[in-house]
Amino acid sequence: MMEMNIEKVACIGAGVIGHSWATLFAWKGYRVALQDVDEAALKYALARIRKNLEFLSEKELLRNEEAEEILQRIEVTTSLRECVEAADYIQESVPENYSIKKEVFRKADSFARSQTIIASSTSTLKMTEIQKATRNPERCVIAHPWNPPHLMPLVEIIPGEKTSRETVEVTRNFMEALGKVSVIQKKETVGSIGNRLAAALWREAINIVDEGIADLEDVDKAVSAGPGLRWAVIGPHLSYHLGGGRGGIEHFLDHLGPAMESRWRSLASWVTIPPSAKRRLVEGIRRHSMLRERSMEELIKWRDDRLVKLIKILYLEKE
Ligand SMILES: NC(=O)c1ccc[n+]([C@@H]2O[C@H](COP(=O)([O-])OP(=O)(O)OC[C@H]3O[C@@H](n4cnc5c(N)ncnc54)[C@H](O)[C@@H]3O)[C@@H](O)[C@H]2O)c1
Repeated sequence: MMEMNIEKVACIGAGVIGHSWATLFAWKGYRVALQDVDEAALKYALARIRKNLEFLSEKELLRNEEAEEILQRIEVTTSLRECVEAADYIQESVPENYSIKKEVFRKADSFARSQTIIASSTSTLKMTEIQKATRNPERCVIAHPWNPPHLMPLVEIIPGEKTSRETVEVTRNFMEALGKVSVIQKKETVGSIGNRLAAALWREAINIVDEGIADLEDVDKAVSAGPGLRWAVIGPHLSYHLGGGRGGIEHFLDHLGPAMESRWRSLASWVTIPPSAKRRLVEGIRRHSMLRERSMEELIKWRDDRLVKLIKILYLEKE
């Protein structure tokens, strides 16, 4: 295992993702410097972090009295230099835009100590491009979280052409030490593994609604109670291996491969959402019974309550 000695973490950008990373790092015992160009964003971020901690304590993931200590570990600043100069690891979460990210990387690279890893939360941009703005591209990498990073286990680590193996390994070790599940994406693509898979599934989910094969609400139910539930435990490849019985994946491919191919031939392949589908999605959401019964806020709380129950069972409890 590569050596890592991380005590202080810098979070650049305090929006949806940045404040949640800051919650995670402080909760796990690290000192955090949280930076944003917008004072109001920092103030709002602190209020949200407090709420996150209340939620974690409600879910018995931390003790109530710990929340204050955790908050004490977080300092906020509008100065990038102040944020990164003493950091042992940097996580950038500024808007999804090359010119903003490259400028932030250029400055962070010039202010931070030369060994400090600079990781980006980007969902679609390429590290090969971002790291061109730095003098030490080997220490730059993508560590893409799933929202919200303080709850969702997955972090996808994606190196650019100039990222060193050591940077990838130390980032992975750090994420695992934080209790995350890390995967390494070996080649850069448009979007990470999880986002590409979600995009492939969503296109067909939209198509089923657009073609009138099923209502939007039933499509969502089918995913959550069917493949989504199974995939939460075991991925698609191992699922189909088990589906092949004693013959495993080889038998599955011979036996049920042709059926799968006939399905693939009938799936949607468009790359622009058809206008009819857009209309049907908006109508379907408007009629959704869960939104009639609950406000948006209540639905988020309901989702997070259930999500945390699952995360506890699948990732936090020892078998
Ligand atoms: N929102 C998601 O679901 C999600 C999931 C995974 C990854 N991401 C990635 O996380 C990153 C941030 O997304 P977000 O949803 O948190 O955005 P956001 O708009 O909520 O937050 C961005 C924050 O960056 C601040 N900012 C702007 N310019 C800055 C600068 N030069 N220096 C410091 N701070 C600056 C803004 O004031 C804002 O508070 C993006 O790269 C995005 O792709 C987002």
